[in-house]
Amino acid sequence: MSGKLYPVPAGEWRERAWLDAKAYDALYKRSISDPQGFWGEIGRRLDWIKPYTRVKNTSFVPGDVSIKWYEDGTLNVAANCIDRHLATRGDQVAIIWEGDDPTQEEQITYRQLHERVCKFANVLKAHGVKKGDRVTIYLPMIPEAAYAMLACARIGAIHSVVFGGFSPEALAGRIEDAQSKFIITADEGVRGGKFIPLKKNTDDALAKAGKGDETVLVVRRTGRPVPWTAGRDLWAHEETARVSADCPLAEINAEDALFILYTSGSTGKPKGVLHTSGGYLTYAALTHQYVFDYHDGDIYWCTADVGWVTGHSYIVYGPLANGATTLMFEGVPNYPTMSRFWNVVDKWKVNIFYTAPTAIRALMGAGDDFVKSSDRSSLRLLGSVGEPINPEAWEWYHNVVGEGRSPIVDTWWQTETGGILISPLPGATALKPGSATLPFFGVQPELVDDKGTVQSGAATGNLVILDSWPGQARTIYGDHERFVQTYFATYPGTYFTGDGCRRDEDGYYWITGRVDDVINVSGHRLGTAEVESALVSHPKVAEAAVVGYPHNLKGQGIYCYVTLNAGEAWSPEMVKELTAHVRKEIGPIASPDLIQFAPGLPKTRSGKIMRRILRKIAEDEYSNLGDISTLADPAVVQDLIDNRQNRR
Ligand code: WTA
Repeated sequence: MSGKLYPVPAGEWRERAWLDAKAYDALYKRSISDPQGFWGEIGRRLDWIKPYTRVKNTSFVPGDVSIKWYEDGTLNVAANCIDRHLATRGDQVAIIWEGDDPTQEEQITYRQLHERVCKFANVLKAHGVKKGDRVTIYLPMIPEAAYAMLACARIGAIHSVVFGGFSPEALAGRIEDAQSKFIITADEGVRGGKFIPLKKNTDDALAKAGKGDETVLVVRRTGRPVPWTAGRDLWAHEETARVSADCPLAEINAEDALFILYTSGSTGKPKGVLHTSGGYLTYAALTHQYVFDYHDGDIYWCTADVGWVTGHSYIVYGPLANGATTLMFEGVPNYPTMSRFWNVVDKWKVNIFYTAPTAIRALMGAGDDFVKSSDRSSLRLLGSVGEPINPEAWEWYHNVVGEGRSPIVDTWWQTETGGILISPLPGATALKPGSATLPFFGVQPELVDDKGTVQSGAATGNLVILDSWPGQARTIYGDHERFVQTYFATYPGTYFTGDGCRRDEDGYYWITGRVDDVINVSGHRLGTAEVESALVSHPKVAEAAVVGYPHNLKGQGIYCYVTLNAGEAWSPEMVKELTAHVRKEIGPIASPDLIQFAPGLPKTRSGKIMRRILRKIAEDEYSNLGDISTLADPAVVQDLIDNRQNRR
């Protein structure tokens, strides 16, 4: 790990920043000692219909887990992101859309955003969508994704955005779990010059999960022919042409649901993490302002997809609540060339740029020339999210992309946290490459060992958070017990993040990665159990175990051990067949990197798979295999070692 310390840049940069180290310290202390007072004031940055009188009402006690913020206040999230800006910035660009094809672009002002969101909302209403109904959004990175989300917020419907890279099977599971009857999709998506058949995928998903009473609203993106079911499918452009651009706001309680977002856990199917309105928006807006040192007039670009929480909080809700200009990019970093990100930065004079380590590593691997051919002088701040950033990639990002001028905010957070919890504040925090540094306001991280004992001072352990913050998820949709069990039962009285972490002598936090059966592949979160259940759903597979292993570009790769049914022969074709099968069941992001034929899996005598051993073998690390003599059949371990796949 790099021991280097990068101080806050001096001069103009520091003067412009919202907060310096002293201000951070004072505000942080106050946020912990007086959360009611602190968040009571912060909440007023939003426009409330009925102002709240109660601020924080939360409990992490098992049996009584309940999280409520601003619970007697009412507001409208879309009005906070759009309407309240109209008087002062109606003609300011709210969304810059940069197409996959570099010649395609669009600039949408706050006034236009208002009109389009109202029309979308009226279409939803015209087709019977009401407050509390779930609307599934399966769209590419086009402005309509933001219109659809905000339209739901305007009428109090709950959106469930499903990443456009997920397969029909994965989409079906999410439609079913949310019981949504209204689906918004596009004819096709476009990424890296390739077409993604979103409408066809939606048809396939509904053939599996549909009850026959769904409505499908289709945005025309490519205009190429798509299958059509009359009576069910509607063209968005025809529907919006028919409705008024005036849509009254619904009055929404702070604790009414805003959205569900499915994410992977250690066990079972992906869970629908539920976020509510008042606290979520307060936290997204506040973190967006301070972590990115966002000022009026900045051009801000987060490269995430709206299908992930980063897209929700830091493309749509946080920036728009702050009246920002947010850039939405349809494409990929390597199309048409490896310079694409930097060309987009130059084209729009981007000041704040937020991306993922996996993209940084891939671009670093392509060489500096692709960066140096661009100007990038507009950049003032760089951000990283999604997985630990290795110091080498950090240094490259800082020195080559940022030419040493721009601080990097390495932001640690999760779908469940709603917003950033641990991150530098660029005017206040000296940086250490690879460390997410210090907690944001109201966030109390702690490290515990496996027994739950608190580790004080410089230490390593499991990362827990001691008390609630306004952006925290409130429940898992339809399964509060699973919410309690997953996050509050392991170390009772605390929120367990699932991450391992080190705290150094300066109190800086270094996230080391997941300590549960979740793997992080190119910044995408996947449960090993999901990949296993995809594998065993193949008719020739008897059993499968999946673990992560270190991967130079992706952070972690997916390593699968597969046992076939008796009589089935292993062959290179089998590897292809299984890979295709997992892609079909989950999506391309879950493509196995390595599949090893396992005549048997290491199990205890009671039949439990010893994943620890499988992880070690995948990591090519045998020094600490532990006692294998207690296994039901110790010989299988040697066979797995002898046939390991990623030998260098
Ligand atoms: C990991 C993404 C190290 C972590 C916002 C977490 C990180 C999981 C960082 C959540 C970071 C995210 N440094 N690890 N800066 N940011 N992670 O729900 O393991 O898709 O638990 O949310 O990503 O992934 P999720």
